[in-house]
Amino acid sequence: MTNISSKEIRKQFIEFFESKGHKFVPSAPVVPADDPTLLFTNAGMNQFKPIFLGVEKRDYTRAVNSQKCIRVSGKHNDLEEVGHDTYHHTFFEMLGNWSFGDYYKSEAIAWAWELFTSVWKLPKDRLYATVYKSDEEAVELWTRGTDIDPSHILRFSEKDNFWEMGDTGPCGPCSEIHIDLTATGNGGKLVNSGNPEVIELWNLVFIQFNRNADRTLTELPAKHVDTGAGFERVARVLQGKSSNYDIDLFAEIIAGIEREVKSKYAGHPSPEAFRVIADHIRMLTFSITDSAIPGNDGRGYVLRRILRRAAMYGRKLNMHEPFIYKLVGDVVTAMGDAFPEIKARREFVEKTIRNEEEGFNKTLDRGIELFDDIVKKMGSDKRISGPDVFKLYDTFGFPADMTRVMATERGLDIDEEKFEEEMAAQKKRSREEGKKIFINKDVKWINLSKDQKTAFLGYDTLESSSKLIKYYRTGEVMQLVFDQTPFYAESGGQVGDQGFARIGDRSFEIWDTQKNGDHVIHYADDVEIIEISEGGAALQVSPNHRLSTIKNHTATHLLHSALRLVLGTHVHQAGSVVEPYRLRFDFSHNDKISADEIYRIESMVQEKIFENITLQHHRNIPIAEAKKLGALSFFGDKYGDFVNIVQFGEYSKEFCGGVHVPFTGRIGFFKIVSESSVASGVRRIEAITGSIAEEFFREESRITEKIRHTLNCKSGEIAHKIDHLLSDKKLLEKELTELRLQSVTAKLDELVSSARESAGFKVVSAKLDLPPGVDLRSVGDSLREKLRTGVGLLVSDLQMVCVVTDDLIRDKKLNAGSLVKEIAKIAGGSGGGKPHLATAGIRDISKVSEVINAVYNLVK
Ligand code: SER
Repeated sequence: MTNISSKEIRKQFIEFFESKGHKFVPSAPVVPADDPTLLFTNAGMNQFKPIFLGVEKRDYTRAVNSQKCIRVSGKHNDLEEVGHDTYHHTFFEMLGNWSFGDYYKSEAIAWAWELFTSVWKLPKDRLYATVYKSDEEAVELWTRGTDIDPSHILRFSEKDNFWEMGDTGPCGPCSEIHIDLTATGNGGKLVNSGNPEVIELWNLVFIQFNRNADRTLTELPAKHVDTGAGFERVARVLQGKSSNYDIDLFAEIIAGIEREVKSKYAGHPSPEAFRVIADHIRMLTFSITDSAIPGNDGRGYVLRRILRRAAMYGRKLNMHEPFIYKLVGDVVTAMGDAFPEIKARREFVEKTIRNEEEGFNKTLDRGIELFDDIVKKMGSDKRISGPDVFKLYDTFGFPADMTRVMATERGLDIDEEKFEEEMAAQKKRSREEGKKIFINKDVKWINLSKDQKTAFLGYDTLESSSKLIKYYRTGEVMQLVFDQTPFYAESGGQVGDQGFARIGDRSFEIWDTQKNGDHVIHYADDVEIIEISEGGAALQVSPNHRLSTIKNHTATHLLHSALRLVLGTHVHQAGSVVEPYRLRFDFSHNDKISADEIYRIESMVQEKIFENITLQHHRNIPIAEAKKLGALSFFGDKYGDFVNIVQFGEYSKEFCGGVHVPFTGRIGFFKIVSESSVASGVRRIEAITGSIAEEFFREESRITEKIRHTLNCKSGEIAHKIDHLLSDKKLLEKELTELRLQSVTAKLDELVSSARESAGFKVVSAKLDLPPGVDLRSVGDSLREKLRTGVGLLVSDLQMVCVVTDDLIRDKKLNAGSLVKEIAKIAGGSGGGKPHLATAGIRDISKVSEVINAVYNLVK
């Protein structure tokens, strides 16, 4: 078994279940497209959640795949273990098979056992099965249905054998297969104890409940199977290795790190640093490929932390310059065949990581300064406080283990307990943040019919007569689901439709439309519809709202093509909002877009509008056919077997479920109104179309006309004329300042020649109104020169300057700094400076003449 490659293992798993009637479903992206309860895909079952909940149906009931998973946040978070042990990862692949209301426990257990022991020939005496404490059925199935040693069937409680996806969602009792890798083979007692030699390989979950937000469980309409085997762990066992990082899949990545850091992993004093970096670069490559971007909140924040953690461990390997981005190529070599998307996005991922690394190096230096400050302030204390460790972590991305290392180097330690408390408080805060985005999807509905789907008619019509199949009322908001609807539910960036509904003789407004699985939810203010039992309704989408929106949607597609033609094919959609008033398009691109590029992009889109290209709408075509058409798909989206393609000639072809104008000419006008950066490597364009763009042009033209009129020139001459005016203005300002200075100089001459003599030298003390643009200090300087020997004080507004000539500083020990301090006090001010020139501010304007007189006495 030792020379089976991981590629072969993945293939054999899939083929095994295909031979048992399962359909291969590709891995969903690691960034979930439409589940606000998840930051990252954390299990193979995520993409099937709506099927488990009974709100979506597929034309197959058995599925198999290898799913890209990330476990760094929420319920399933292995981050702290990663690198320190050899079998947890932030990113890993999960081999899984599923039954959607089809087979249940018996087949799930029998097939897992068959694959492990008959196909892969794992030693039976080393395998253990755990079951949920009261799951007699599972115990029975293991005992009678397999030849496992009955003493190897162990019962555990909720903590280990009741699997939940997150705070809410499908869940149920589970049964896990563990392997004993100890030398003696006596590791049975170590199951579920966190021992690295006795580890879980496969989890079989028997999904039968939904966990609601209020912690109660609801029985699901059907029973399902959801299994997940840790691919890297299975490979480690089959390849006879003692660490996941020693399997073939990691070989290239570890070699890449060795190349960059110029030392070997084997025998290195900090092997965990190699493992952390090897793990994290996979996580980063896959998540950035699937459209996550390092940033300051949510998902982006997690990415930033992971990258920083990798960089900190890089420092342990003496790496002070960005280098992690150079490992992306190694991940692509190792995994690009199984996941071609990382090949396609390689350059973008490299650039994004590199930018972040560069930024972090700067932060890191500041963080080290803060660390030094903290240590200085501690005095004789030997323990860095919890809040300080947390501050380093939260503000500068210092993982606690790095702070610990730095502390140890100085003979200190850290307050682990208080740090954990801070972390727990932060987790609570972010969980609460997360909850805010819930929409009422788990509410209790009143069902009027058994219909499980809403048919969407809105590609072809704006109105329909429909049957109400369920509804939900809160007293403020009403949610309605019909058997068919022309209302488009928000999706793919396009906002939900608005319009009207009529039930009985009541008409009311629908102000938003959202999707929940196969149902379309229409939102309205709660109106009193007495006894909605009949359920017949007339639905009407607002034509203006819809038409303005779809103009922007089609324009978004035209813009996307133009961006790829003008800037390059590295441009990929990273986010899109299509509203009636504007469109917003985020895409991968590293540099600012120049005015000239904007002009070319706009012209290209406008040209396609004028060409009035007809929409070709390919609805529900097999995905293979769609790919043959060469349509653009998005890494951030998941697709079923049948997709919609929106095509405008050869110019634009995209996977898209949205609604579009029938001819590009309907868009009318297109205008980009802003271009900006949203995150490193992502730019944002906002644009307007239709009558809004036309209004914009008209307003611009009106303004131009006004300027033209004022300047009395042709439009083409405006820029030239303004340039002229501005340089004239500059010249005049310069001349004016010179003139003003001259008048100040004349005034100074007058002051000096009429100066009082006191203690044998001249003393000038006066109020001076300085013209705008003339600086009091430089006037003080000229006064000093003119005095030759003397002391001067000038007050202007609430400022004053005091000067003393060099000979008096030397011979009479006079000092402008001390003088100005004394004088300013009189008027409630303060100041200071050098012995030859000092300035001060004063508060009390009524004291100005007192101030001026004070000088004469002081110098005596
Ligand atoms: N969903 C289960 C898990 O993640 C089995 O796939 O362990």
